[in-house]
Amino acid sequence: MSGIKQIALLPGDGIGPEVAAAAVTVLDAVVPGRLAYTEHLFGGISIDAHGVAMTDATLEACRTADAVLLAAVGGPKWDTTDPDRPRPEQGLLGLRKGLGLFANLRPVRAIEALVDASPLREERIAGTDLLVVRELTGGIYFGEKRRTAEFASDLCEYSVAEVERIARTAFRAARRKVTSVDKANVLETSRLWREVVVRVHAEEFPDVTLEHLLVDNAAMQLVANPADFDVIVTENLFGDILSDEAAMITGSIGMLPSASLGNPDGPGLFEPVHGSAPDIAGRGIANPLAMFLSAALMLRHAFDWESEATSVESAVDRALENGLRTRDLGGTATTAEATEAVLSHLS
Ligand code: NAD
Ligand code: IPM
Ligand code: MN
Repeated sequence: MSGIKQIALLPGDGIGPEVAAAAVTVLDAVVPGRLAYTEHLFGGISIDAHGVAMTDATLEACRTADAVLLAAVGGPKWDTTDPDRPRPEQGLLGLRKGLGLFANLRPVRAIEALVDASPLREERIAGTDLLVVRELTGGIYFGEKRRTAEFASDLCEYSVAEVERIARTAFRAARRKVTSVDKANVLETSRLWREVVVRVHAEEFPDVTLEHLLVDNAAMQLVANPADFDVIVTENLFGDILSDEAAMITGSIGMLPSASLGNPDGPGLFEPVHGSAPDIAGRGIANPLAMFLSAALMLRHAFDWESEATSVESAVDRALENGLRTRDLGGTATTAEATEAVLSHLS
């Protein structure tokens, strides 16, 4: 068997292909000859070609790959409120569900060189190093959807087993504390969530500190006292919203990577938290760093290539220390210049 890892590469739409190509350049420099890519149409571009955001063949190809590296999907061309028309995002949701990736890890670190790029004050964000553990295959995203001319509904559902497994992921990842975020003062799913988290904690992880925050308060604490957090565990929709908010601790949504894991028998999915940024697509000015950091998470989580993962992360840090700033970070660097800067700092 060759040691070459097979990567399903899904560039997607908008800035997706721009940052995906940049990431491949960086990976080729860090692990030359050790990855082989097969590219697939995904999202809006797949709708144009095949009428669906993800074909069965693409899902199957992802399933048999060693890892899936995805950039971003979506755009105004495919925006519709008609439930009978396909949307790019359906590909993403179908892929996460189809691969059984229930645990989405979104690390958020205040990078010292970037404190001036954050809208938050330096003394608030200093030392922030948190992880959002977002449940990814349940909740309101996947419950029954209904729509008539006069009515619409989205069902939010969680089972005990779904909460148990994401709670375990969070407790295992914690260094000091888990903050479970819910809306247990209103939602039945949140009351179940809280009971299950409390029980898993008591039975399996009594040495980790556990606290609970209601999601509205959590949204406030995240900008008021971000350094107080270690691991935040929360349901699908809350995790989506809180992670975009948390991105501003770093200065830009263009900085946040993610790893989606949970199926020991299949590949993980690695993608930036940001979307296809239609407002800047095609101009060569997207920040590729979230994509590079997602590639680093792939090296670490999919292949256990820890030193290579660290090498990408350190190169990103050093490039920023040496003044790299794309437009979202208040500078003028293009995607190509950002890529060159990171390449030049690889050790
Ligand atoms: P977005 O994340 O695409 O963009 C929000 C803002 O952040 C925009 O101003 C954009 O220019 C900026 N931005 C995002 N990434 C950037 C980067 N790498 N460099 C510089 N600036 C960046 O969110 P949106 O505008 O709400 O969504 C646009 C489309 O993307 C929608 O169709 C949405 O569904 C989709 N989306 C996809 C994903 C994904 O594929 N994982 C994630 C989020 C949104
Ligand atoms: C994300 C995105 C997706 C989500 C959309 C595009 C379906 O916002 O990955 O954060 O809501 O999960
Ligand atoms: Mn999101």
